[in-house]
Amino acid sequence: MPNHDQLQALVTGYAGLAIAAAHRQGVELVGQAPFALDGHIREGFIACPLRPAPALASTSAPRDTAAITEIPPEQVPLALLLLADPSESKVRGYLPGARCFAALHGGQVAGVCAVVPLTPGVHELMNIAVDPARQQHGLGTQLLVHVIDTYRREGAARLEVGTGAFGYQLAFYQRHGFRVFQVDRGFFLRNYDGPLMEDRIQHKDMLRLAIDYPATA
Ligand SMILES: CC(C)(COP(=O)(O)OP(=O)(O)OC[C@H]1O[C@@H](n2cnc3c(N)ncnc32)[C@H](O)[C@@H]1OP(=O)(O)O)[C@@H](O)C(=O)NCCC(=O)NCCS
Repeated sequence: MPNHDQLQALVTGYAGLAIAAAHRQGVELVGQAPFALDGHIREGFIACPLRPAPALASTSAPRDTAAITEIPPEQVPLALLLLADPSESKVRGYLPGARCFAALHGGQVAGVCAVVPLTPGVHELMNIAVDPARQQHGLGTQLLVHVIDTYRREGAARLEVGTGAFGYQLAFYQRHGFRVFQVDRGFFLRNYDGPLMEDRIQHKDMLRLAIDYPATA
């Protein structure tokens, strides 16, 4: 049976007139059916509203725009770095020698990335982290793309990063051009006091990935 909305039926014997009237009223006739009106059973047209199709809900979170800038290591919020690397002693070990990039959102440091030199032309992205309240809004991507482009522009040969062997972070790096070149088996077992868990899996091995920049003439 047609539902109440559909029973905006036009009780008329002339389908042509009904169709024209229906379109003027913003409905279309999709069939005929008996229905009750004023205590009588009538034959009417089933009308459906001619509404525009509802917009599909976006599957991605809204994007934020950040200003990316370099900041001195001592201005980097340690709490952010600890999101990516829970070993404070390791973070404190590489931070003073790192080049630090910040994603500023609303004037606040919402994301950071720390990169250290390894050998001439080769650098390692040691840490990238975004404030949990601002994650999944595009800031991490803007930060990563900025860092990759900065080292490319400056003529670097290679940018490396180490990450877990599973998880969205691995896809995040690969999506931006990093490729695995080494597996450091047992890295997270050897280097961290407690188990590092994600998705109920313990991180054990570290993948080393790199972007090799094409040589510029
Ligand atoms: C990794 C990180 C810096 C990304 O920052 P972000 O602002 O969330 O990044 P974006 O919003 O640009 O998202 C990048 C991608 O990661 C995905 N992503 C981010 N957080 C995610 C989560 N918690 N679960 C699943 N996917 C996630 C996004 O969906 C997006 O995928 P897409 O490119 O297909 O759209 C941030 O999630 C973070 O700080 N994580 C904790 C620290 C960390 O793990 N650092 C990396 C150490 S190796």
